[in-house]
Amino acid sequence: MSKQSRFLVLTLALAGLACQEGSKGEPERWDSSSPADNGGTGGPIGSGGTTASGGTTASGGIAGGGGTGGPTGSGGAIGSGGTTSRDGATGSGGVASSGGVAGSGGTGGGRGGSAGTGGIVATGGTTSTAGATGGSGGGVGGATGTGGSTSSGPYPSQACIDRANTLLGQMTADEKYAQMLQMERAALTTALVTQYGVGSGFSQGGSAPSTNSPTGWADMADGYRQAALASRLKIPFLYGADEVHGVGTVKGATVFPHNIGLGATRDTALLGAIATVIARESLGCGVDFVFSPVVAIALDERWGRTYEAFGETSDLASTMGSIMVKGLQFTSTGTPTGLLANAKHYLGDGGTAGGVNGGDTSGDETALRAIHLTPYRAAVAARVGSIMASYSSWQGTKMHINKTMLTDVLKGELGFGGFVISDFNACFQLGLANQDGLGQCLNAGVDMFMTYDQTIPTMLGYFAALLKAGTITQARVDDAVRRIVAVKCELGLFEASGTVDRTLTAEVGSAAHRQVARQAVQESLVVLKNDGAVLPLAKTAVVALGGKSAENTGNQCGGWTISWQGASGNVVGATSLQQAFQTVVGASQVKYSVDGTSTSGASVGVAVIGETPYAEGKGDSTDLTVSATDVNVVKAMKQAGLPTVVVLIAGRPMILDPLMTYADAIVMAWLPGTEGTGITDILFGDAKPTGKLPHSWPRSMAQIPINYGDATYDPLYPYGYGLTY
Ligand code: BGC
Repeated sequence: MSKQSRFLVLTLALAGLACQEGSKGEPERWDSSSPADNGGTGGPIGSGGTTASGGTTASGGIAGGGGTGGPTGSGGAIGSGGTTSRDGATGSGGVASSGGVAGSGGTGGGRGGSAGTGGIVATGGTTSTAGATGGSGGGVGGATGTGGSTSSGPYPSQACIDRANTLLGQMTADEKYAQMLQMERAALTTALVTQYGVGSGFSQGGSAPSTNSPTGWADMADGYRQAALASRLKIPFLYGADEVHGVGTVKGATVFPHNIGLGATRDTALLGAIATVIARESLGCGVDFVFSPVVAIALDERWGRTYEAFGETSDLASTMGSIMVKGLQFTSTGTPTGLLANAKHYLGDGGTAGGVNGGDTSGDETALRAIHLTPYRAAVAARVGSIMASYSSWQGTKMHINKTMLTDVLKGELGFGGFVISDFNACFQLGLANQDGLGQCLNAGVDMFMTYDQTIPTMLGYFAALLKAGTITQARVDDAVRRIVAVKCELGLFEASGTVDRTLTAEVGSAAHRQVARQAVQESLVVLKNDGAVLPLAKTAVVALGGKSAENTGNQCGGWTISWQGASGNVVGATSLQQAFQTVVGASQVKYSVDGTSTSGASVGVAVIGETPYAEGKGDSTDLTVSATDVNVVKAMKQAGLPTVVVLIAGRPMILDPLMTYADAIVMAWLPGTEGTGITDILFGDAKPTGKLPHSWPRSMAQIPINYGDATYDPLYPYGYGLTY
């Protein structure tokens, strides 16, 4: 089923017609520090100690620290490269590795330090030693921290442009066109890659190799890479997938909170650490082109992609987006990781009228620039190698064919030297004949074409015919190919082995990576209400646990997890809320029922409610009110005489009015991903709540859109709100 027909299906489904999503047996669509000039993110995550005995040598990576401090031990060391670390309660410093600043680990059961950012002046040590009798903490150790060495100067460099020019001089017309293609894996054999010299492949929603495991993916990628190296000009191949919150496509990978939760952390150091983990897991799976980060400014919560954005302000999207780009593309020393990041969707995707996905963006050019262009400036400054055009339009013109914005503004004014990729089949969704759409996209500035449902010969034929007709020019084709090949050169792919680094494959879903995700969950939670100081909970509590998401890691992860839209159920390797509660208070102290009626003997009720998974299109909604079923869970607990805590698992603010009287405490957990323990860490006070709202919280649907800076501003909770204890 093509994207077009899938959206038709969705439309019909929304119109009330019975329709079984994904019932045709086809792969479900998977549409799917800081290496600053003076510093860098810490290096890759190390294998630091996570147990209380400490003393493990940590190698590699972004400073971690972290973990829960042991009873008497000094905390684990902060790795080199880190300049900041968040301390545990009363932590004595861990042993600093050379380079970074020592972080404080936790003692007395406190929380160890969080991820350090890349060093401002980090020289990068190579080992770090966890505390002798340290609490769990050692966490991720540090390694090479020197930043920014290659992160300056034009991108791509002249040397890479020269290399691309040399190859351009050797390419046939078809080889040039093939370099501009990104073909979906189901229709892309290794033989085709060798025959045509195809530039890139990708996975759409749920489109995984027959063995959906890190090794299965790495094997697939190796096949394509080797096939490209067997082609006439041996230009390296790029494999793309969405991976908007970790390598969510791959079973067993670490799934982080979606960007909306990361926006709530406001923790740039942590984000650098997350980016490094994602880069390592992604590269370990052979995905060296991630369609991430989303740098949209989500202005209207009715938009089903709200959770993919860091928040509703340009500042947040710019800061977080550029750190993500740096952490994905560069190591702490500023050298390329070999992974290509992609800022999307250019331009104005989060500003469409009514929050309609792919709709028309509101506002004049001043607003468009001030709100939506800003994060792209930041991403370009961070040396992002690719940018994806948006399905949306502005003033009635689809972004894919907006030459002013793509070419004059992005490539000209902003000086973007990388390549623009189309969104999934977007050039064939313009209401034009396929060939005409392709020509208009290319002329507007699209360089690579994400393609589904077309054969390679058909695509090559379109380009040839367009050139022959004079609709496109040789210069524009050459410019597109030059950009693509130069970016591949910048990534270091010409020097790479052409095979996946299997040590990275072995790291996918590792305990150290999950620890970073757990910390992300802790920091992403926003405490909205805490009447009577119900929180933190006592560890002696008997918990009546209910709600549809208390035992549902599919709900926790949300869309873009395993499949395109995500699904309720269980995600491999994930920890549910029920499991997390059982670990803290003991299985017998957790009284679980979906409807919240198992309250006998309980001292507190916890209702885990909210949204079920969705992604683009399907997630657009005009009613974000908590459902009656969800409200009834809280009500049942309240009526049983319990103090009640609501944990909201949702991709955006919801209208809370119906449950307010029944909820003593409300914690917004967003879409936290696989590490449910990060939530209980906050509920039981093992970690201090620090999350701040990345969105203004509406009182009613009528208030949407409501945004920070509005002339009239009366949200239920303002942007930046968040209680602590
Ligand atoms: C989405 C993109 C995504 C692409 C590939 C599109 O439908 O808009 O964000 O990267 O599919 O999965």
